[in-house]
Amino acid sequence: MTTTPANATTEQPHAIDPVQILSARFRAAIAAVAPEAAGNADPMITPSKRKELGDFQSNAAMPLAKRTKQNPREFAAKLVEALDVADICEPVTDADIAGPGFINVRLRTDMLASLVSRLDSPELGLPKTATPETVVVDVCGVNLAKQMHVGHLRATVIGDTLARTFERLGHKAIRQNHVGDWGLPIAMVTAKLRTEAAAGRVDMDALDLDTLDRLYKLAQKECKGQASAIGVAKKFGSSPKLLAELEAEQVIADEHMAAAKATLVALQSGDAETVAVWQRIYDTTMTACLAACARLHTRITDEASAGESSYRDELADVVDDLVKRDVAQKSDGALVVRLDAAGIAEPCLIRKRDGGFLYATTDIAGIRRRVQKLGADRVVYCVDARQSLHFRQVFEAARIAGYATKPDAEESSALEHAAFGMVMGEDGKPYKTRSGENVKLSALLDEAVASAERAVREKDPGVDDDRAARTAEAVGIAAIKYADLSGERAKDYVFSFERMLSFEGNTGPYLLYAPVRVGSIFRKAEERGVALDHADAALLLREPQEKALALALLRYPTAVRNVAAQLEPYRLCAQLYDIATAFSSFYDACPVLTADDDETRRSRMRLADITRRVLIDGLETLGIPTLERM
Ligand code: ARG
Repeated sequence: MTTTPANATTEQPHAIDPVQILSARFRAAIAAVAPEAAGNADPMITPSKRKELGDFQSNAAMPLAKRTKQNPREFAAKLVEALDVADICEPVTDADIAGPGFINVRLRTDMLASLVSRLDSPELGLPKTATPETVVVDVCGVNLAKQMHVGHLRATVIGDTLARTFERLGHKAIRQNHVGDWGLPIAMVTAKLRTEAAAGRVDMDALDLDTLDRLYKLAQKECKGQASAIGVAKKFGSSPKLLAELEAEQVIADEHMAAAKATLVALQSGDAETVAVWQRIYDTTMTACLAACARLHTRITDEASAGESSYRDELADVVDDLVKRDVAQKSDGALVVRLDAAGIAEPCLIRKRDGGFLYATTDIAGIRRRVQKLGADRVVYCVDARQSLHFRQVFEAARIAGYATKPDAEESSALEHAAFGMVMGEDGKPYKTRSGENVKLSALLDEAVASAERAVREKDPGVDDDRAARTAEAVGIAAIKYADLSGERAKDYVFSFERMLSFEGNTGPYLLYAPVRVGSIFRKAEERGVALDHADAALLLREPQEKALALALLRYPTAVRNVAAQLEPYRLCAQLYDIATAFSSFYDACPVLTADDDETRRSRMRLADITRRVLIDGLETLGIPTLERM
């Protein structure tokens, strides 16, 4: 990947992130002072803990001195001596060494201003990469005949944001919705729907997802049977009457299961009537799914749908290929790929004893298609963390099989599981309804929008209905998405309408409000007839708040690149929040339109304008469209 992490080895020719620039300079100094330790030494640049001492500090002297058995302060002094930053920093001397060896530096204001004016371009410091890659992003992953719930929110929102980030950087992102639309559970509900429709209990022409969801659960229950209950009853010598009842139920369950299996065979062989029923289930589910994806402002469309069923004709071929090349072995009548050499004890099962293929078989076929047909340099799976063993297995099996290598490539493409944590309720348990059901995604979105509307009306009692509805929709969806994106991906997070809808703090509504506030400066300017003559104004940055805002803005490109490199959208959220709060302090302390002189006014207007554009670009990258007014 051509991503640039915060501490890149060399200074990028057009770097505008001070941390990146300082990192390169300190690295050079370290190489001069301690060549033996320089190889992988981290310059450890962070914002200064004490602002009165500087803008940034390097914490590298302490660990390096330890490694090279020197006194840390003396080592820091040597670093300062070797440091070549005269063009970007105020002079750095021994007086800038604090405590055991922290080195503080202060950026020159003229340097800061010139970096900010470099940021002030249409691409905002993020030109399209010169080496575009193809990245397949596994998103959404809904299952037929089941309502989308809060877990699908994460796979949809985080996955789409990652894809947007790749696109923003100039890569090609291909979204793939690995819909669970094939196999025995789907055959069960297909069989069930067919009998229900035949009995006139379901109107096929008015099929909806709630009905399907109900039939799915019913079919599961009917086919499940009482095998384990019978085992328990026998073991504990339960009454013959109970045993007989259970066994009678089991006979019925066996019949249901036999019907489901026959339906699976009919589906697999393309029986027209069965396929037509399946297609109705597919269309009903996907219509609802794609509507949710659109409402969430994702770029997940029908084009992204590549469900398990799309691999049905490839599975036998994959398995044959793996057997032929001795990648897969027989085990107990089944077929497995052994992964012990890669340190994974559990082999990857690819064909069951009864000849059936598995979830893993489809994912291995998926890697083959994604890398070898779609040309992925990188495949990113945005899927629940609980599937991490599954992905370790299929990634390794695909690598062993050579499926992860592009036809013309030497190295295998990157396969990455962007695992996410669970959504918890405020009671600390997985987020469910009061009665313990999964919360329907559509209901969740409706509720967020309804709460947002109350907040919007409270803020602006005179608002007209149309505007209230439009604003509420934007704010409600932004709140839900931002809450999902702004935490570390792998962590569980607590779902709280109250917190996510707050206009204060690191929330969607706060971020949405920030560019509106900046925009209002320009509306006021127009009302008052103030010239919009700021485009090429000299940036003055005299007040600490102006400087702080400039510094926050300059970190924007790195934040976006970090999202792509680490698959962590919170990196961008945190930076946008920093920018929004820095703007807020700037706005409170530094009058813009009523500045003392014209030069200051123009400088501040330019700073505000850049801020607005960065916030809009950042939110757009996250998949959160902004509003003109709120
Ligand atoms: N349908 C799956 C589930 O609900 C998620 C699919 C994830 N993607 C994949 N390529 N396995 O668990």
